[in-house]
Amino acid sequence: MINIQSVCLGYTNTPILHDINLQIKKGEFVGIIGLSGAGKSTLLMSLIGNIRILKGDYHVSGYNLNSISKKELSDLRASIGFIFQGYNLVNRLSVLHNVMSGMLKNIPLGRSLIKLYSTEELNKAHEYMQVVNIEHLAMRRCDELSGGQRQRVAIARALAQNPNIILADEPVAALDPKSAAQVMDVLRKVNESYGVTVITNLHHLDFARYYCNRILGVASGTISFDGTPHELLSRNLDSIYENEPSSLESSKNNITNIMSHVHDNNSNNNEMRNAA
Ligand SMILES: Nc1ncnc2c1ncn2[C@@H]1O[C@H](COP(=O)(O)OP(=O)(O)O)[C@@H](O)[C@H]1O
Ligand SMILES: [Mg+2]
Repeated sequence: MINIQSVCLGYTNTPILHDINLQIKKGEFVGIIGLSGAGKSTLLMSLIGNIRILKGDYHVSGYNLNSISKKELSDLRASIGFIFQGYNLVNRLSVLHNVMSGMLKNIPLGRSLIKLYSTEELNKAHEYMQVVNIEHLAMRRCDELSGGQRQRVAIARALAQNPNIILADEPVAALDPKSAAQVMDVLRKVNESYGVTVITNLHHLDFARYYCNRILGVASGTISFDGTPHELLSRNLDSIYENEPSSLESSKNNITNIMSHVHDNNSNNNEMRNAA
């Protein structure tokens, strides 16, 4: 699905990332970790053709990014869901309408403007809202929602694109730990239920370890670690985080606590009650 060989990437002719070799298969759940400024977002943005390829071969979903046409790039982008830290929703519109906008490419413009959707499209939207646990909020305006709920709307909208890949740039960085874990749970569900490849930058090492099957560490302008969470040893972390102790302050107890709260069956019911 993704095949990157000996690639250098940059915003100008100066490389930000060099010697990138990366193969990602369909259905993987990949976490990218590293210090701020290491190049995590640059790597993620390069997958949608937003970064200059200075050297090497770059293939995504069968497209050669070295020589991609405008039309192909637009098709590639339509097949990739992108989730930002800032949600990027239309706040004055309902949750349902935002989710439907993920299908816009497939819905004729005239029809989408008057919000007239087919039963099949509505059923799909409800299915996606159910997957991310926001179905009970369908008619709420997005600006009435919490950060975690908004991020789940963004995931449902990405799902409505029927994507092969979902890219998420620090999707939980702005959330409290419990909401963050709920969003990560939803990303895992999307990955497992729909076989969508998920690639996400994560500020919190704990989340990367807990949720991802594979971790990429970006440091010194390249991918310095590529392996499973089990293979990620403290010496790897020392080089990824360049011995910055504060970055390594990651408490196993914390994550265990968070997970036990989140996976408490009551949490959804509480949210439903609050919304009612
Ligand atoms: N639009 C841009 N133009 C030029 N340089 C940029 C741009 N965005 C980021 N950079 C530079 O690229 C490097 C990697 O940044 P980034 O990928 O955002 O890191 P991270 O996501 O790991 O924090 C940094 O040195 C940053 O200053
Ligand atoms: Mg970033």
